[in-house]
Amino acid sequence: MIGKGEQPMQPEWQQLMNAAREARERAYVPYSHFQVGAALLDANGHIHYGCNVENAAYGPTNCAERTALFRAIADGCAPQSFRAIAVIGDTAEPITPCGVCRQVLIELGGPALPVIMGNLNGDIIVKTVGELLPGAFTSADLHDKTI
Ligand code: THU
Repeated sequence: MIGKGEQPMQPEWQQLMNAAREARERAYVPYSHFQVGAALLDANGHIHYGCNVENAAYGPTNCAERTALFRAIADGCAPQSFRAIAVIGDTAEPITPCGVCRQVLIELGGPALPVIMGNLNGDIIVKTVGELLPGAFTSADLHDKTI
C-alpha cells in the first residue's frame, strides 16, 4: 500500500525510502537484532543516512532517525530546513518513530516535515511530525529563557 496516510506520495520519497533501506543494513544491533534505517533529505537534495546504534548499557542506544538528524546537523544543515525523512524496519505495519525520536524530530525537523514510514514489504504511510506529536513541548514553551 503506497501512499496511504495523510500526505500524497511524492516520487522523491520512494528514493528516500530506498536510501533508508540501504542504511538499515549498517545498523549496529548486537542486542535487539532489530535493524532500522533512516534517510533524511536536506534542502540541497543531499541524503543523510542513519541507522540504529546500540550499546551494552542499552540506554545510550541511538535510533536510526536521531542518527540521521544528528549527522545532518553535524554536517552543517540548519534545524527545520529538511524536506523529508524516511524510516524503515522489519515490522508488520510501517514502522513509526519512538517517542524520544518524535521529540527530536519536532525540534530539528519541525512540525511540517513529512515522515515516510515503511517496512520491508514495501508498505508506506506518510504523516507529518506534527501529526505524530500533537501538543509537543517546544522551545516556544521556554519563553525567553533560551534561544
Ligand atoms: N529503533 C529505531 O532505531 N527506530 C525506531 O523507530 C524504533 C526503534 C531501534 C532502537 C533499538 O536499537 C531497536 O530499534 C529496538 O528497539
